[in-house]
Amino acid sequence: MSPMISLYAVATLLMVSVSLEVEAKTMCVRGVGKLMCKSDPMKAANLEIDMKDYDGLPLDSDDHMGTTWTSLNGSFEVSGCGHDVGPWNMPDPYIRIKHFCPPSDNPSSTVQRKIKIFMGRTFLPKIVQIGTIYLDDVRTRQKA
Ligand SMILES: *[C@@H]1O[C@H](CO)[C@@H](O)[C@H](O)[C@H]1NC(C)=O
Repeated sequence: MSPMISLYAVATLLMVSVSLEVEAKTMCVRGVGKLMCKSDPMKAANLEIDMKDYDGLPLDSDDHMGTTWTSLNGSFEVSGCGHDVGPWNMPDPYIRIKHFCPPSDNPSSTVQRKIKIFMGRTFLPKIVQIGTIYLDDVRTRQKA
């Protein structure tokens, strides 16, 4: 093999391994936000927040990415990583929260409610500003 050809072979191998690395990349997410329950602020404290990677498949097959708990004032920071399989399937992270904050149109309700909020495809080093989530009425979410 001539020196030129072996140099070319090495360069080709390098390019192949770089593109394989990109395809198997791990993407990490960190989000900060705050939960509020206007009718009873303590119902936003110590809540479990699960971050998952939505994959659009039936059954509960979304990959778990991370778990955290809100502080006494409802603030939280959640982080975790997901794996994209190939270039067209970036992680699609969301947080899932179960809570007992009653809806504003039914303040005596004691039913547990579940909300799911997509975080968008923003990965570290950028931090996702989830903002304030009003559990009484999730539709009135405000940006930080
Ligand atoms: C809420 O609690 C967190 C963690 O304990 C703290 O860092 C933050 O400063 C508090 N925010 C307010 C507005 O009190």
